[in-house]
Amino acid sequence: MNVGVVGLGYVGLPLAVAFCEAGHRVIGVDVDPRKVGALNAGHSYIEDVPDPTLAGISDRLFPTRRFAELSRCDAVIVAVPTPLTKNREPDLSALLAATTAITAVLQRGQLVVVESTTYPGTTREQLVPLLEESGLTAGAEFNVAFSPERIDPGRTDYVMRNTPKVVGGLTEACQARAVALYGEVCDHVVAVSTPEVAELSKLLENVFRSVNIALVNELAMLCDRMEIDIWEVVNAAATKPYGFMRFEPGPGMGGHCLPVDPFYLSWRAREFGSPTDFIELAGEVNQEMPRFCAEKIARALNEHAKPVRASRIALLGVSYKAGVGDMRESPALKIIQLLGEGGGDVIYHDEYVPELPEFGLASVPLTDALDSCDVAVIVTAHPGLDVDLVLERAPLVVDFRGVTPGVGAPNLIRL
Ligand SMILES: NC(=O)c1ccc[n+]([C@@H]2O[C@H](COP(=O)([O-])OP(=O)(O)OC[C@H]3O[C@@H](n4cnc5c(N)ncnc54)[C@H](O)[C@@H]3O)[C@@H](O)[C@H]2O)c1
Repeated sequence: MNVGVVGLGYVGLPLAVAFCEAGHRVIGVDVDPRKVGALNAGHSYIEDVPDPTLAGISDRLFPTRRFAELSRCDAVIVAVPTPLTKNREPDLSALLAATTAITAVLQRGQLVVVESTTYPGTTREQLVPLLEESGLTAGAEFNVAFSPERIDPGRTDYVMRNTPKVVGGLTEACQARAVALYGEVCDHVVAVSTPEVAELSKLLENVFRSVNIALVNELAMLCDRMEIDIWEVVNAAATKPYGFMRFEPGPGMGGHCLPVDPFYLSWRAREFGSPTDFIELAGEVNQEMPRFCAEKIARALNEHAKPVRASRIALLGVSYKAGVGDMRESPALKIIQLLGEGGGDVIYHDEYVPELPEFGLASVPLTDALDSCDVAVIVTAHPGLDVDLVLERAPLVVDFRGVTPGVGAPNLIRL
């Protein structure tokens, strides 16, 4: 097959690689010339796709900025960003722009699959009418489906091959074609009856996580007042073999998905006059965490007779999750901003994030950070972080990830 992938980011690039590795040719289209240039030069910008992997498929992956090349594809998969506007409403501009560009080159018999996370109804109400401006009829002359991505960057136990893939087609024929397409790269394809079910299933997954993270974060703030160790509480509850699922407290939710996607659903729900209180409340609690953490750092300094102003505060790990360099919506950004507003001298160490240009900061070596700081703060514990070294060399340590031993170190404060 010739498969088109539009949007070569965290979702699109691994998908393109998977189809290439299954023996297909992939036309990868992206509007970002740097990404297309890097891929054509054999360089990856996604941690999960190392350069040698690209080298192994160089005869099958064709990165380009030209949508016209999609005309020779059997199927075109769309994986462009779906963020929120400043007013926290769905921003479909990239998805609509990509769909418009596909419409201009759409061919009879092609299958178009949308993977970008969005509210139920987007595919049928927004995208199908756009695609039909080509003069072709959806379901009859071309096929359309929605299939949400479940990639978890940095994860190695569940990858595309062994993670079930939900697919909802516009018609039965659309369904059958999309199921066959994903059967090439996934062992288990889950067919659902409509694109709306597929769209909403993805939002349910993300709302589920957001709500449960908010619950444990709320408990973390309560535990702080009650002087109970939240990590010990979570560890104890997690020994129950049924009816409990472990979620970790932390400095706040980051990434493209969890802080964003639930609001696609609450926005859509307003149109139906149906309140989504869980979603809103979870968002509020999770958004409060960076502020709570900045205050906790200030209290830790205060206990050591130091103000935030002019104290050197070394953040260890600033990306939104361990093992990746993704800074999107990272709670560290808010923590840096708040500490900076308080006059703190903030530095950071993160081997995955060489620079934070918006703050004029660059990552400093771990030992320099530990030796020069008044407090070291574990915001994101990347694999291999030498926790013993941190506890040994920093005068004061605040741990928001529960990676330090719970008791015994006099210079340690935990979430
Ligand atoms: N990152 C994840 O872990 C993850 C997981 C599941 C679902 N998703 C969803 O998948 C979608 C893509 O997310 P991502 O993380 O891959 O984003 P990303 O920003 O990493 O990649 C998107 C790519 O699309 C390109 N692009 C933007 N507008 C375009 C256009 N009009 N035409 C062609 N290319 C365009 C960008 O240059 C970028 O390279 C989003 O809807 C997201 O919610 C992401």
